[in-house]
Amino acid sequence: MGIGGAGLGLYGGRRLGAADFDLLAMPDERRVAGRGITREMLCYGEAGPPPLIRLRQGEDFELELDNRLPEATTVHWHGLRVDNAEDGVPFLTQAPVEPGERWRYRLCSNDAGTFWYHPHCNTLEQIARGLCGLLVVDEDTPPDFDADVPLLLRDFRLDEQGQFISLFEARRAARGGTLGTVTTVNWRAAPTIEVPSGGLVRLRLANVDVTRTYALSLDDAACTIVALDGHPLPADVVLPSPGRESLLLGAGQRADIALAVPATPGRTVTLMRAAPTGPTPIARFRAVGRSRARRLRDRPTLVANPVSSPRPERAETLSFDFSWAPGREASNADICGTLGYTFWAINKTAGVSDTSDTARPLAELESGKHYVLRLRNRTPQAHPIHLHGMTFRLLRSTRRAVPPLYTDTALLQEGETLDIALVADNPGDWAFHCHIIEHQKTGLTGFLRVRS
Ligand code: C2O
Ligand code: CU
Repeated sequence: MGIGGAGLGLYGGRRLGAADFDLLAMPDERRVAGRGITREMLCYGEAGPPPLIRLRQGEDFELELDNRLPEATTVHWHGLRVDNAEDGVPFLTQAPVEPGERWRYRLCSNDAGTFWYHPHCNTLEQIARGLCGLLVVDEDTPPDFDADVPLLLRDFRLDEQGQFISLFEARRAARGGTLGTVTTVNWRAAPTIEVPSGGLVRLRLANVDVTRTYALSLDDAACTIVALDGHPLPADVVLPSPGRESLLLGAGQRADIALAVPATPGRTVTLMRAAPTGPTPIARFRAVGRSRARRLRDRPTLVANPVSSPRPERAETLSFDFSWAPGREASNADICGTLGYTFWAINKTAGVSDTSDTARPLAELESGKHYVLRLRNRTPQAHPIHLHGMTFRLLRSTRRAVPPLYTDTALLQEGETLDIALVADNPGDWAFHCHIIEHQKTGLTGFLRVRS
């Protein structure tokens, strides 16, 4: 006995032995982007940018969350196909982890790639104040890159003194969402990151912003996209490289880019995002050391993840209409609940997420069956639509040619109808929502139930 003691919650008995990783969630203050010390930040870990969590493909990994925040929290593993009980959605898959409590997550991922983690409780506030980090699942046989560079992209909403301003404005939440004011990469403004001269580097970009879609480009660079949203690009799919065109990453999305670093030490490559004033540098990569003399065409190929391929011809079609539907104020009673407004609806219902209202799934799916989800955007905004627990394939759109990519988050364009397909191979209740957190928290949310 004696395991646990004070602060163990109802489900806390899951602690046994040491975890592979301890994840501390705590209040923080620090300097972000060269302004004053920002108060009322939240962080994972004791200091520095959020810890990178690294798993090995197919191996068990235990992680213990230690909640030292003054409020409840949970952790969701964005893009990982884990067991439903480990998915981190309060009420739907677990009890909220109260202040002072700990919670043990058991993770195992058969997919290698770039994922991320974040709370699913009071989500706008907790992510916006700094809780989130990158999660990498390393391949069985690691591909031969000379460096691996995690890049968390995020706009903090700060004033000139570096203090948080209101995290959202209702009139913006009712449209495209409230944008941050200071663009950061790994919590710094326009950092310079050293990379080996002439090396082949794997950049892992993750859009961990609560609102913004980044349009990214790399100046003057030999580079190519090797994976999107954790999944290697199929061999026959070649996308325009960010050296020539910009790459759109919606909130929650990731891109792995192979970059051939210039051979001359001291040369830099600049990562830029589109802004109304033109492309704006957000990070620089500076070549250091003797040249490794590698070329882009020597880059390693990534092995596809074991995702079951959906067969649209034998699938049932389920329709989801995303619409603007301002309504009366939703109940704000639940601790992990809403922002107090509803502006959006799925199939005419303004959803509530992260509350104890978990009775009505948007749809029920049968385990092992194939489905086409028809996502119909009846709004003039784009929405990064995210499904937990399962990976889907982009099928077709009424507005553009879509490459057959596997993903967990699709950037649904204005007025577009996008068909996606999946095999319902993971039983449980899976959250399904817009990753513009203000939209999620004002109605654009629900869940799918996969019956075993
Ligand atoms: Cu990235 Cu429901 O979450
Ligand atoms: Cu949205």
